Amino acid sequence: MDERIISANELEEDIFEKNIRPECLDEYVGQNEIKENLRVFIKAAKMRNEPLDHVLLYGPPGLGKTTLAHIIANELGSTLRTASGPSIEKTGDLAAILSNLEPGDVLFIDEIHRMPSYIEEILYPAMEDFEIDLVIGGEGKSKSIKINLPPFTLVGATTRAGDLSSPLRDRFGIVSKLEYYSFEELKDIVIRSGRVFDINVHDDAAMELAKRSRKTPRVANRLFRRVRDFALVEGTGEIDLDITLKALRRLHVDETGLDSIDIEYLTSLIKKFNGGPVGVETIATSIGEEVTTIEDVVEPYLLQEGFIKRTRSGRIATEKAYKVLGEDYNIGFFKEG
Ligand SMILES: Nc1ncnc2c1ncn2[C@@H]1O[C@H](COP(=O)(O)OP(=O)(O)OP(=O)(O)O)[C@@H](O)[C@H]1O
Ligand SMILES: [Mg+2]
Repeated sequence: MDERIISANELEEDIFEKNIRPECLDEYVGQNEIKENLRVFIKAAKMRNEPLDHVLLYGPPGLGKTTLAHIIANELGSTLRTASGPSIEKTGDLAAILSNLEPGDVLFIDEIHRMPSYIEEILYPAMEDFEIDLVIGGEGKSKSIKINLPPFTLVGATTRAGDLSSPLRDRFGIVSKLEYYSFEELKDIVIRSGRVFDINVHDDAAMELAKRSRKTPRVANRLFRRVRDFALVEGTGEIDLDITLKALRRLHVDETGLDSIDIEYLTSLIKKFNGGPVGVETIATSIGEEVTTIEDVVEPYLLQEGFIKRTRSGRIATEKAYKVLGEDYNIGFFKEG
């Protein structure tokens, strides 16, 4: 699925995107509540000369968690150290990262939900009291030593807040859920990217890209880059509506913002399972995707856009889903057994 042009997951080519990452809160578009609160907390921490409270950022892929972590460090005037949940395999790995921190550093742990719980436990005293307890030696001779850490701020990011243990979640003083972006906001992001790459983006073209971006900045920027190629090779060198529509057609990105996985999901739900209710595992199997992909990447957008509903007995398709597939909604009510 990562071949999809409108995949919200980070692709290889997105590394390039780092150039267009905003670097301060003022450049970061949208997420206004989070932004304004962070502004206050960061200012207060600086006035008190204390580290910022630990921050947990959660939400679907591509909405700007990593970007925000970098911005937090920048705004604090601190150094960002990064690690990711899956790469921390032993308690020693985490202990090494923590004991190498300098006062005031921001430690960013991406995919923090993927840390095993026995490693996670090291974080509890680290977050609360800036110390870690290490057990050294073994075979009856082991003893526990305490290591003091410099004051630091942990920024954790996850697509699945529900997978965090509550002791870990409770140790974050600031918990922010990133929301999908409005078309206006995405339009601003595209225009900003145009400025960074020194290419003129017409208003109507930017809006068209915004509408087809799954409400996700990463997708908007990816479409922007492809359309920029078309503009250069087959257009006028500017991103106008004409070349944008042409490029989008060539890329098979349609008006609904739904991509092939979304369509497969809805088709399966409606045609194979009569619109539900059906369990997420069953849908995942039927379209050959991982349950986590379905839950973290596909469903949040379908739910947000009202194509599906989550009920106690499973997922159900809404009238909007039938419409987008060109199916008759009523047959859903007269289904057999
Ligand atoms: N608020 C924003 N304003 C402008 N650009 C943004 C914003 N949020 C994200 N972007 C752009 O979208 C891209 C993806 O954002 P980012 O990598 O921070 O997402 P993420 O939430 O960390 O995703 P993942 O869950 O896959 O790690 C960034 O490279 C950045 O260019
Ligand atoms: Mg990220």
